[in-house]
Amino acid sequence: MILKRFLTLLPGLLLYFSLFADEGMWMLNNLTQENWKRMQELGLELSSEDLYCDSLPSLYKTVVQFNGGCTGITVSKKGLIFTNHHCGYDAIQSQSSIEQDYLKNGFIAHAFEEEIPIPNMYVLYPRGTINITQKVMHNLSPNLSEKEREIAIEQAIGRLQKQFNDSLPHYEVVINSYYGGNEYYANIYQRFSDIRLAFAPPSSVGKFGGETDNWMWPRHTGDFCVFRVYADEENKPANYQETNIPYQPDRFAPISLNGYENNSFVMAMGFPGHTDRYLSSWGIERKIESSNNPRIKVGSIKLDIWKDAMLNNDEIRIQYASKYALNSNYWKNSIGMNRGIEKLHVIERKQELENQFLHWMEQNPEKQAIYSNTLNLLRNGYIGSMEKVKAKTFLSEIFHGAEILEIAHYVHAAGFLRDHSERDTFFDEALAPILKDYNASLDEKVLTAMLGILKNNLPPPFLPSVFSEIDKKYKGNYVQYADDVFKETVLAHPDKLHAALLNPKKFMQIKKDRAYQLSRSVRRTLESIHDSLQADSYKIREGERLFIAGLREMEAGKNLPPDANFTLRLTYGSVGGYVPNDGAWYEYYTTTKGIFEKQDSINPEFNVQPEVMALLHQKNFGKYGNQKGDMNLNFLSNLDITGGNSGSPVFDAKGRLIGLAFDGNWEAISGDLLFENEVQKCIAVDIRYVLFMIDKWGNSQRLLDELQIQ
Ligand code: ARG
Repeated sequence: MILKRFLTLLPGLLLYFSLFADEGMWMLNNLTQENWKRMQELGLELSSEDLYCDSLPSLYKTVVQFNGGCTGITVSKKGLIFTNHHCGYDAIQSQSSIEQDYLKNGFIAHAFEEEIPIPNMYVLYPRGTINITQKVMHNLSPNLSEKEREIAIEQAIGRLQKQFNDSLPHYEVVINSYYGGNEYYANIYQRFSDIRLAFAPPSSVGKFGGETDNWMWPRHTGDFCVFRVYADEENKPANYQETNIPYQPDRFAPISLNGYENNSFVMAMGFPGHTDRYLSSWGIERKIESSNNPRIKVGSIKLDIWKDAMLNNDEIRIQYASKYALNSNYWKNSIGMNRGIEKLHVIERKQELENQFLHWMEQNPEKQAIYSNTLNLLRNGYIGSMEKVKAKTFLSEIFHGAEILEIAHYVHAAGFLRDHSERDTFFDEALAPILKDYNASLDEKVLTAMLGILKNNLPPPFLPSVFSEIDKKYKGNYVQYADDVFKETVLAHPDKLHAALLNPKKFMQIKKDRAYQLSRSVRRTLESIHDSLQADSYKIREGERLFIAGLREMEAGKNLPPDANFTLRLTYGSVGGYVPNDGAWYEYYTTTKGIFEKQDSINPEFNVQPEVMALLHQKNFGKYGNQKGDMNLNFLSNLDITGGNSGSPVFDAKGRLIGLAFDGNWEAISGDLLFENEVQKCIAVDIRYVLFMIDKWGNSQRLLDELQIQ
């Protein structure tokens, strides 16, 4: 077994679409016989209607898109939702202060009234999917340029969108493109926007291992938290009202305490955000050089500055906690992706596929007529845009890096509002929350560093025009420049900024504010790069659309899954460990033993609350324990997930909840570009650990009583 795994890792033996690959973020409405057969082989016991049927309360209706970037699962008839701690992290952070530090200490609502409404939070309940490809495409003339084609499609989508809005007024209908623009579907949702925090473990559990363990196995993280969906008295979606009542869903997911074994069937449903599995070898070269490398460079410096400040100041620790986690997550992902691309020979394997594609096309004149230009479009589009995209990444990383630039951008947006009362509301809703978690002197340090990075990495044509001024006056002394910016600017001072927004004269003066001008200069450069990329972008989009269409023809008879696009998907497979590197084997689950091994009271990432340590020491795991008297914390499977799947329910063969997916593994981060049959794993938190925390740490009988535990 292990030998086989090891051998198949050798390049050359790798086939793009391996026979037993369970790769696939499948659309539930497009599951084929092939999919069902494979799921049954692997152990699924549910019928197809149980899983997916628009007119029945099928299992898929228990899954929610959580707050625009994650997934959640409905677990009670009173609208209780489980998701990841890192998905609720921003909400928990926003409610935390030094006095009431829910990040550090966790949060337990002892009654409905104690559940905390989270402003702007929402969930989407999927209600069905309709194939509208024919409707979008039926009038397309074959001779259109890519640009004309896109415009025609946009217009068709606009018309359809309007029809949907009129015919389904209480639903949210989103039209999405699949297979690089070869297919279109309308996804129907119900949006609930009164969401309240019910329970969060301390970060020492929910984020155990911090950034060090992030994207890694073996893992020991209790990455869960609990929210509740509220509705009006008719059980309909409604904005927050104190009088709203817990939402009663048609169906919720039962929970199993029976766990899993090696090779047990598992499946997950969720909302994966973005994959690039059909990306060409040139696309990958550009990704390394123009996206990941600049992101890594900027991120390393910014994160170091933030981290230092967070360690030394509790207020900053709380203010920057969520931003830091988010930034660090992508930064580390970029590093891991570059590493994976190299070690797993991703470019070479893509080239192999491209050669196969060429070969297939050359044997068939009819296909050649359609696809002969495909690879040229991709090559020219990607290689031709390399430098520009690199500059764009540097600039946008820095635009979002020095926060003052982003604040200035919001102020710029406020300029488009009609009067001061609209600007007043805008301040409260958009700017005040940013400024609440903002530290100007920390940001001054970041700005200084960012300017240096731009100067050192951007060729002169890409440098924002403001640099000529700065360089003339300050002779490269960015410390001095940043100091002057921050001495002068009103943008970093909530009161002054608020007053300026309300007073037309003062508001006019903001345009002369140096922070504002700097931000405008960076933004304008970004815009002009963006415009100059148009031609390459059309080539790439046309090339990708054709490449995917061609590959689907080449692989005729196979259901090739579409890339992730934030719509509902199913992935199935089995529980199991893997070989991370030569001679090593990673077991498919972890236990509390690992917490004792990793616990480190002087390292904040590994310092578990004493009361949690005491609980684990007691080993009173009861029904949550495993057969060896310990308790499983996390487990692995070969489910195909990516960002956006966080919080996805992992179900057993009977459709019972056994875990929540929360991460991918280091060895296969490049898996978003090319799935890795041997080493790509989904890391999930065991639902028994979740319930143990709710029960023994939280003593939240009221929540446990709502669950259906089997
Ligand atoms: N890697 C996880 C994901 O992308 C996010 C984990 C967040 N935790 C953290 N330590 N930053 O879903």
